[in-house]
Amino acid sequence: MNILLIGCGKMGGAMLRQWVKDGGNSFTVADPVKPDLPASVRHVSKATSLSGAEFDVILIAIKPQMIAEVLPDYAFALKPDGCFVSIAAGCSVASISAIVGDRAIVRVMPNLAAMVGLGVSGLFANARCSAEQTADVTAWIAQTGTCVPVDSEDRIDRLTAISGSGPGYVFEMLRSYVAAAMDLGFDEATSRALVFDTITGTVEAARQSDETLEDLRNSVTSKNGTTQAGLEQLMRDGQLHALLNDTVHAAYDRAVALK
Ligand SMILES: NC(=O)c1ccc[n+]([C@@H]2O[C@H](COP(=O)([O-])OP(=O)(O)OC[C@H]3O[C@@H](n4cnc5c(N)ncnc54)[C@H](OP(=O)(O)O)[C@@H]3O)[C@@H](O)[C@H]2O)c1
Repeated sequence: MNILLIGCGKMGGAMLRQWVKDGGNSFTVADPVKPDLPASVRHVSKATSLSGAEFDVILIAIKPQMIAEVLPDYAFALKPDGCFVSIAAGCSVASISAIVGDRAIVRVMPNLAAMVGLGVSGLFANARCSAEQTADVTAWIAQTGTCVPVDSEDRIDRLTAISGSGPGYVFEMLRSYVAAAMDLGFDEATSRALVFDTITGTVEAARQSDETLEDLRNSVTSKNGTTQAGLEQLMRDGQLHALLNDTVHAAYDRAVALK
């Protein structure tokens, strides 16, 4: 596919690096200031540098509040049977249709782990997308990690609250866990290694197991042992469960309010 990225900042840039590594498609980046780009990627600083309907896909990777101003300039560059793909948070398919008309539009909610090829994205394709277009875009997004197709935009908002905002939650949990390790006397480098590797290993063990998470937790918790002593604090009064529940509901409510 011949693909135009409008905007190549943190998220667009992270995804582009994976796509270029995997090969197969050609990329043009439109961004007023030339970002640091792989040699194979063409750069334009404005829409007038493009010559006609060149692209199979236009990826909208600018801040949501800029879309109404910037997208109209680039819409002409999409082939008649091409597809707009938006990663803009809180920007509905209807709001993009209002700018570009009744076209094939895919809304994707990625997360920042795309920068290491371990992203999680939700994908919603409108009724104008053919099955082939949806399959092509799904496979393309999956080059940055897991891609979960959903059948409504509300599902995108819900998924935003779990995986879209997830890296923020996890960075904060890591920060607290590392700080606790340092409080027990380890230096920062050792604390980071202990925490990061414990989490990576535990996630992989859970992924490879058929047991429930509760059974796995119980299997590493001996009666009156150290894990039990720690868990009694972590699970005190159901606070952790309530906190995570409040966290994702607050993010979902915000996603709905932003639309
Ligand atoms: N970051 C995340 O974790 C994340 C997660 C999910 C979805 N998203 C979505 O991804 C989109 C981009 O977010 P981001 O974090 O990557 O923002 P960002 O780092 O600010 O990237 C936006 C890019 O667009 C460029 N730009 C500004 N005006 C432009 C124009 N007229 N034409 C073309 N490009 C222009 C910016 O250039 P300047 O810097 O020079 O202004 C910047 O390089 C947003 O819609 C956001 O909702 C982000």
